[in-house]
Amino acid sequence: MSDLDQLKGDLLAAIDSADLARLEDIRVSALGKSGSVTGLLKTLGGMSPEERQTTGPRIHALREAVTEALTGRKAGLEREALDARLAGETLDITLPVDVPAAGTVHPVSQVMDELAEIFADLGFAVATGPEIEDDWHNFTALNIPESHPARAMHDTFYFPDEPDGERKMLLRTHTSPVQIRTMVNQQPPIRIIAPGRTYRSDSDATHTPMFHQVEGLVIDKGITLGHLKWTLETFLKAYFERDDIVLRLRPSYFPFTEPSAEVDVGYTIQNGKRVIGGSDHWMEVLGSGMVHPKVIAACGLDPDEWQGFAFGCGIDRLAMLKYGMDDLRAFFDGDIRWLKHYGFAALDVPTLSGGVGA
Ligand code: PHE
Repeated sequence: MSDLDQLKGDLLAAIDSADLARLEDIRVSALGKSGSVTGLLKTLGGMSPEERQTTGPRIHALREAVTEALTGRKAGLEREALDARLAGETLDITLPVDVPAAGTVHPVSQVMDELAEIFADLGFAVATGPEIEDDWHNFTALNIPESHPARAMHDTFYFPDEPDGERKMLLRTHTSPVQIRTMVNQQPPIRIIAPGRTYRSDSDATHTPMFHQVEGLVIDKGITLGHLKWTLETFLKAYFERDDIVLRLRPSYFPFTEPSAEVDVGYTIQNGKRVIGGSDHWMEVLGSGMVHPKVIAACGLDPDEWQGFAFGCGIDRLAMLKYGMDDLRAFFDGDIRWLKHYGFAALDVPTLSGGVGA
């Protein structure tokens, strides 16, 4: 075997078993300035033309083979290193997370999601409106004119008068202004619920200055009290996840509905605890009625053509009844221990199929 073949064999074998660092050493020792192959190339100049003709191509071929082997080995080693790194960093995102979640979903948010889910199934959209309202949307359009005694009942937070004295602004005292905004902006038929924050100057174990309501509104042709009762029954059965929900509609008064009914839900006492269902005792859960023709007209619709029903319900109260809390103020204390106890995991998304409160 010639020296050239010997050198080639040695170099290729060394390359084949080298790691990345060693590979660089081999490259320098073969192809570097004073490398073995470079040295051979330099001998070409001193050769006779005949010798150059036979040996030249072999030396060039050697350089090429070594260069190629170096590049190939380097690419192979780099690919192996990358594969090993990727394998080490593999994350199976289908595995359950074992880090405890830092926060929980507030029961009010959870109940709002449950309401949206239940009413979406009945064909209701979710509507919203501003919490800072004007007097017209919160009162006047709802058939509560300036001098109406109902205004006094609302313990309203008013903003200081605007310099132009034009629009009196206030914190909405109920979600009913969203009825108005929806009827003004949308052509019937209308089916919406409007959950959100509401404000009244009131504070005790069952009242907080900020609380939550959900409004329901249906406007269509030929709507009757029967539709209202069926809707409320279906809603409360789905919400409390019981079939033995009994409702009692008591005649009542709201300026924006006629007739008006307060709705009580029946409950029983079991082991000293209030359990919704049955009809041993009654508890008021919401206000409702057929939308007053004046309200429909105030929104630019013809009350002879369109009728509807509306209801309004305290969300905090619904949450307390379903999840067994007894002091409303705790809802807004921001106490992490209370939330840990009553809160919901972020992935507990209510669905009708899974049970809305699951
Ligand atoms: N807005 C009323 C309240 O806050 C509730 C209600 C809404 C009553 C819709 C009837 C119809 O007390």
